[in-house]
Amino acid sequence: MRFILHTYGCQMNVRDSEAVSALLAAAGHSPAPTEDDADLIVVNSCSVRGKAEDKALGKLGLLCAAKRYRPNLIVGLMGCMAQRLGTDIFKYVKALDFTVGTRRCGAIPRMVARVLAGETGICEISSPDEIPDAPDAHTDSGYSAFVTVLLGCNRRCAYCIVPDVRGPEYSRPGREILAEIAALARNNVREITLLGQSVMNYGRANAVWDTSDAPSAGGYTEPFARLLEAVAAIPGIIRIRFTSGHPSGVTDQLVRVAASLPQICHHLHLPVQSGSDRILRAMRRGYTRADYLDAVRRLRAAMPDFALTTDVIVGFPGETETDFEETRTLMNAADFDNSFIFKYSPRPGTPAADMENDVSDIEKMRRNQVLLEDQDLRGVAANQRLVGTLQDVLIEGPSLRNAARWCGRSPGNKIVVFNPKAGLEPGQLARIRITRAAPQTLYGEAVP
Ligand code: 5AD
Ligand code: SF4
Repeated sequence: MRFILHTYGCQMNVRDSEAVSALLAAAGHSPAPTEDDADLIVVNSCSVRGKAEDKALGKLGLLCAAKRYRPNLIVGLMGCMAQRLGTDIFKYVKALDFTVGTRRCGAIPRMVARVLAGETGICEISSPDEIPDAPDAHTDSGYSAFVTVLLGCNRRCAYCIVPDVRGPEYSRPGREILAEIAALARNNVREITLLGQSVMNYGRANAVWDTSDAPSAGGYTEPFARLLEAVAAIPGIIRIRFTSGHPSGVTDQLVRVAASLPQICHHLHLPVQSGSDRILRAMRRGYTRADYLDAVRRLRAAMPDFALTTDVIVGFPGETETDFEETRTLMNAADFDNSFIFKYSPRPGTPAADMENDVSDIEKMRRNQVLLEDQDLRGVAANQRLVGTLQDVLIEGPSLRNAARWCGRSPGNKIVVFNPKAGLEPGQLARIRITRAAPQTLYGEAVP
């Protein structure tokens, strides 16, 4: 059968979709070039905001309607909305063939086989605390790969549906992760991004290292610092990233390991959500504005070139103009390279859903716009400051806009475009002197 996956949401979903593609291929199916050629379409859904769910529901509605004239088409749902709705999804999308929870996506090939054998309306929702199947299968997709190390989340931020749909934290055993990455490295992967909702919580909720595992050369005792060190020791891995962060994870050991291992990129996505202590407390984020700025200060003290990106929610219940201004000043103080701004969306069953959603849509839109404009100015200035610097760029290959030039990413995750040079090949690091900055792109020349 020919299959296609539609992925909404975060990198965690992108990674799960990749694993499912690899498992379907291993079961004898093949990727379809377009949706019209597909016999199997799986929607990988996100529940983080109401809009994300509306999109997935809209897509499922269209696909199931198409079954009327494509009777052999199989349609399935996976991801966070599948987990949240369980069998209720069949009330909205009656012709759906199967739905599968976040901790069972490895079951999809078997579910497809059951549909082919005549079953329909199959539901396999995991209990939120079962050990996830976390398939280690990857497709061949270039020099960069995602590896999920920590599933679920133990925080209970007042606005967030993720702990309900991804369950409590489960950290995969160190050995299993290292074997997966070593296999990727043998397959020419050069850059690894370690994934987890609060990735630096790796190994806090369950044991991940055995007494028989190699001890830490740098004397790290924290499981995540040990993991970073062990990944950096794998031959062929020249770059390591990890996402997302929480300020409580910015420990002395984390700062020391990131500053001392050349493979680790000086970049972190560290969602702040708000700059107001009052709102941070209502959100149950577990840190204050000062704690957050202190984490930023410690990262930059050890690594002056450290790039930071963030997420912010505007219009959380009770957010006043004063709270909002505190978010603006925090964002300037932290000097983010990039930020993603979201309008608060009440999620069913979360504590914030019972609070009065008292910021009007128009006001949320205005605050969103103000923060975007601030970020544009900061982003342009940040890029401008890089002109004249040397950046190690992982070469991806020809640039999309102009195939005569190459592109890649800087350690700070910015796109860098430059002229190819003899002796340089995709998958290698090139040292690039930045000569020009545009808002979204840096331009430069390779130096010997
Ligand atoms: N409403 C709006 N944004 C949200 N996020 C998480 N939950 C909500 C919500 N209920 C945002 C946070 C998070 C990002 C992935 O999505 O900023 O970091
Ligand atoms: Fe969306 Fe959160 Fe699920 Fe990622 S973990 S897909 S952001 S709801």
